[in-house]
Amino acid sequence: MCGIVGIAGRSEVAPRLVDALKRLEYRGYDSAGVATISSGRLDRRRAEGKLVNLEERLDGEPLPGTVGIGHTRWATHGAPTESNAHPHFCNGVAVVHNGIIENFAPLRAELIAGGSVFHSQTDTEVVAHLLAGYRTDGLTPREAMGKAVPQLEGAYALAVLFEDEPDMILGARSGPPLAVGHGKGEMFLGSDAIALAPFTDEITYLEDGDWVVITRDGLEIYDEGGSRVERASQLSQGAAYVVDKGNHRHFMEKEIHEQPEVVSNTLSHYVDFAEGRVKLEAAQLDFANLDRLAMSACGTAYYAGLIGKYWFERFARLPVEIDVASEFRYREMPLPGRMAALFISQSGETADTLASLRYCRANNLSIGAVVNVRESTIARESDAVFPTLAGPEIGVASTKAFTCQLSVLAALAMIAGRARGTLSAEDETDMVQALVTAPRLFNEVIRAIEPQIVTLSRELARFKDVLYLGRGTSFPLALEGALKLKEISYIHAEGYAAGELKHGPIALIDENMPVIVIAPHDRHFDKTMSNMQEVAARGGQIILITDEKGAASASIDTMATITVPEAAEIIAPMIYSLPIQLIAYHTAVFMGTDVDQPRNLAKSVTVE
Ligand code: M6R
Repeated sequence: MCGIVGIAGRSEVAPRLVDALKRLEYRGYDSAGVATISSGRLDRRRAEGKLVNLEERLDGEPLPGTVGIGHTRWATHGAPTESNAHPHFCNGVAVVHNGIIENFAPLRAELIAGGSVFHSQTDTEVVAHLLAGYRTDGLTPREAMGKAVPQLEGAYALAVLFEDEPDMILGARSGPPLAVGHGKGEMFLGSDAIALAPFTDEITYLEDGDWVVITRDGLEIYDEGGSRVERASQLSQGAAYVVDKGNHRHFMEKEIHEQPEVVSNTLSHYVDFAEGRVKLEAAQLDFANLDRLAMSACGTAYYAGLIGKYWFERFARLPVEIDVASEFRYREMPLPGRMAALFISQSGETADTLASLRYCRANNLSIGAVVNVRESTIARESDAVFPTLAGPEIGVASTKAFTCQLSVLAALAMIAGRARGTLSAEDETDMVQALVTAPRLFNEVIRAIEPQIVTLSRELARFKDVLYLGRGTSFPLALEGALKLKEISYIHAEGYAAGELKHGPIALIDENMPVIVIAPHDRHFDKTMSNMQEVAARGGQIILITDEKGAASASIDTMATITVPEAAEIIAPMIYSLPIQLIAYHTAVFMGTDVDQPRNLAKSVTVE
């Protein structure tokens, strides 16, 4: 949450800071601000709301200076007002921060007792006061940083300007990532490499506990003990990504339509289509010798993991223990020997997922990560990285990352099945043949169903509540469908296992609560049909998502039946993701919400 950037440059930096912040806006968009030093004077511009408001402010009141820092905020402490917007100032010190200073309350109380006057409700402002205090005591910026940072508890990535040292920016990281970019006679700081992509592709990642001093000519890195350390730089792929909407109205729409291509790219990484086999060399985890696999993730990535659990257990006979990362990290679950852990994350920076990973690392488990951002912290801290080749996902609602995660998990479950001798060569070949068809089916489905979904979504936009039902791998899809609808349309939605309906949620059924049933004509179909009958008998309105066989055998009146081509079991969750994504997208468009940047959310959740 929150994006930070810093530039020690040779030309005006305010427009470049804003440009970098645009690439970080997915991390938060409650307010934004930039600060620079010009003619020995620290100054800032801040604005509530989206970055466009800050741009307007800067148009009216330009901010000169060749060294500066910037911030786009996802509010944690204090309302999204201008006074809470970063950068925060105190006596010639300016600070931007991503994360949460957990001990800010006692620090603030102590500082107030010592005479400090605070101007915001944020946790961040204590950092500016601490640093300013040490400067007043006569410490250099490096010494002040070396004294202040160890006092901070919690998660932070910081960038700091000192008015009387106008050529340097200090940065620090504990938890959230911080990247240093090497330019030609210029240096940069940013929450990720994509933010810095227009300026440089040579990146040094700070390690946890590091802090850094950058000037136009170079960098000095210190570890948490204050010793000078070297961290290798690397070439980032961030610059290769074009982050624009193309001809689409929203990033989410673009990303939904990119799925045939990115799923195909991802599958090719794990599957040898010519040989009809999965690529065993892609495994990197010793699946053959495991008794159990622990999995964890958040949000949509967690639902991908839930589907993966069905596959690992069915095809590889490998028991899977899965939990949302915010619970996993504190559950103190026993982690006996012959167990590995697999984490799933688009951003690779989600705080709870990373903490769960570190819990497993501390318990000596082998760690695998299914991640989209290759240079992320989760990827860097894992033994085995299983990339999803989705490209940058900018819309807050995860779409293409989800289907790419499913692609990787399907391939890994097959690899595990082969390694454990539970998947026959014939079954493997059949499943690979099914995977080959996925990109084509994606194209067909989008073309075939989108017009119908536009019409349906106009109707759905009238409702206040929607229920999603599914069985087997369609149950996590029901959860995902509900999440997608609520996060971008703000319509209340719940996902349930179809068999659970009669254990409570059936009490909600009436004509005001449409029920979206995800029911491929698979081994669960008849049972799901019985649940649909129960809904129909109580006047519920059904939207059935099924295939031709399912549509033909469902003898029931529906509000709409969305028919997708028949898909083999291993690819059905990917194919059925499309209708649920399109329903959420078009309903949100009709509701007039901010589809790519829904209220209160951020793309990368780097705080607990
Ligand atoms: O970057 P991650 O995959 O770790 O993010 C996990 C969740 O925050 C994310 O999937 C979230 O639920 C999305 N907004 C859902 O669309």
